[in-house]
Amino acid sequence: MSTVSSSGAYRIAPSLLSADFARLGEEVRAVEAAGVDLIHFDVMDNHYVPNLTVGPLVCEAIRPHVSIPIDVHLMVRPVDRLVGDFAKAGANLITFHPEASDHVDRTLQLIRDHGCKAGLVFNPATPLGWLDYVMPKLDIVLLMSVNPGFGGQKFIASTLGKLAEVRARIDRHVAGGGQPIWLEVDGGVRVDNIAAIARAGADTFVAGSAVFGAPDPDRGYRGVVGRMRDALATVD
Ligand code: DX5
Ligand code: ZN
Repeated sequence: MSTVSSSGAYRIAPSLLSADFARLGEEVRAVEAAGVDLIHFDVMDNHYVPNLTVGPLVCEAIRPHVSIPIDVHLMVRPVDRLVGDFAKAGANLITFHPEASDHVDRTLQLIRDHGCKAGLVFNPATPLGWLDYVMPKLDIVLLMSVNPGFGGQKFIASTLGKLAEVRARIDRHVAGGGQPIWLEVDGGVRVDNIAAIARAGADTFVAGSAVFGAPDPDRGYRGVVGRMRDALATVD
């Protein structure tokens, strides 16, 4: 159930990176019951980023536990080899970092050919020029508001200006007859900054430690997610 805003729906996507990995099935069921919109699934390879997480087998294992879409964020190099594996494992969205693919246009097409929504991820220092020639092939743009690799980092403030730039590009694209494109933000999103991030133009919010790290003592994940929705409801 998404919160509706003037620009469409706001989506909340808890990152499993901060979940209890010994109880992942229970964790994803609990956040779905708390009313989130997507499960954000961080894939790290100890090569493109200095950390190692989970692969298609774990995606496949959690798939039967939820009905909401699984949003796979690939922090791996090379990218293409894993696209089919994740599609088969039940991924609905697949995003990747353009620096990690030798042929960005081809990788986007490959993701779509597998029936998933496709997106590019921008690190804090990655310029937006990668968007120039691929807008028609994008379903989602993901801006990193921390350097990728770890949960629990602080939101990098310059992401707000970058979000506004991407929002303007997407709005121009849609006004010119282009397909809708979600604008997702990942890293350091919390109850106290989510409204400002939405005002800058984001519509989809990844939150790892803020959701899994600090459940409401009385209402669990539902309490945190509810407070995020309340904050988003203050945005026009
Ligand atoms: C970082 C990951 C994020 C991370 C977010 O590389 O892509 O999804 O888990 O965690 P928080 O919300 O704690 O910053
Ligand atoms: Zn992520």
